[in-house]
Amino acid sequence: MNGLIEWVCPSNIALVKYWGKRPGQLPANPSLSITLSESVTRLKMEYEYNPVNNFSLEFHFNNKPSPPEFGQKVADYLSKIKSVLPEIDHLKLKINSSNTFPHSAGIASSASSFGALALALSSMSEEIRGVKQSKEDFLKKASFLARIGSGSACRSVYGGFVLWGSYEGISGSSDEAAFPVSGVNPQFHSMRDSILVVSSEPKSISSSRGHQLMNENVFAPQRRIQALNNLQKMLSALGEGNLNEFISIMENEALTLHSLMMTSSPGFILMKPATLEIISRIRNFRSREGIPAGFTLDAGPNVHLIFHSSAEDAIRKLIETELSEYCEKVIYDRIGKGPEREEQS
Ligand code: PMV
Repeated sequence: MNGLIEWVCPSNIALVKYWGKRPGQLPANPSLSITLSESVTRLKMEYEYNPVNNFSLEFHFNNKPSPPEFGQKVADYLSKIKSVLPEIDHLKLKINSSNTFPHSAGIASSASSFGALALALSSMSEEIRGVKQSKEDFLKKASFLARIGSGSACRSVYGGFVLWGSYEGISGSSDEAAFPVSGVNPQFHSMRDSILVVSSEPKSISSSRGHQLMNENVFAPQRRIQALNNLQKMLSALGEGNLNEFISIMENEALTLHSLMMTSSPGFILMKPATLEIISRIRNFRSREGIPAGFTLDAGPNVHLIFHSSAEDAIRKLIETELSEYCEKVIYDRIGKGPEREEQS
């Protein structure tokens, strides 16, 4: 049996951060993110399944044969998930994965890439087994599979606001797969994320190493307590439509993430002078203009400027007059509805 499957999956940015993990790619604390709209991976997968086949993989990135380490990463991932998808052993796969956004631009390409791959594999598995699951079960399985590739990828399988990690206040939440957050005040559905790319150089320390260093960080137990607390406050702010509280928690989380990096051993700093300049200018703008716009940071120097769509004109002006001089480029993104499968004609 053979087929062609194509999925488009967005990246996401965490508001409450996942930093530190337990064996089995389980998070040290629950996290919450928004799924983006424009920053996506488009993944095309051609498969041929035959019980007499031996596994083979041809992997292309951005429509060109990929560097060998990319293909190896995918092959390692497929081997890790074989216990869930045993059909992998008998597949001939041709995959092309391409991103709409540049590498190392402060947008988690692993989230959208593993999200898209997990969705494509879940669709393929349904076709091979001839079983159609409910949408809910399908997405849960895809999120579970995406998590094994990259923790934060499990959140990209859903649109809007997404929770990953078992959390007492929300039934259905789990460490193994993400869960879409309901009851969010409608004003939060038109949030914008302008990504201020300070540097697109590869990071000096990978996320995996950063997570690992949390095992020995003296603040790790306290961090878990803080994250649970911030999550609770963030969920209330989202329900109430409290934008100021939303910003205050989001910024506290971003600065905490980077303080945890600095207090790891060895400590490391991923922010650049321009990151701090931009943060200070965003805060000045907020108090000067009374416009609720705030920042968050990923594991890198780039700044995500988050605001409501009603502030779009003022923010464009802020970026053009005060911030763009500190950036290599700006990517204008927004909250999105989640991944989509492309029908093949
Ligand atoms: O999913 P990973 O292993 O790339 O780790 C992501 C960690 C952060 O992006 C810093 C935070 C998060 O929750 O996405």
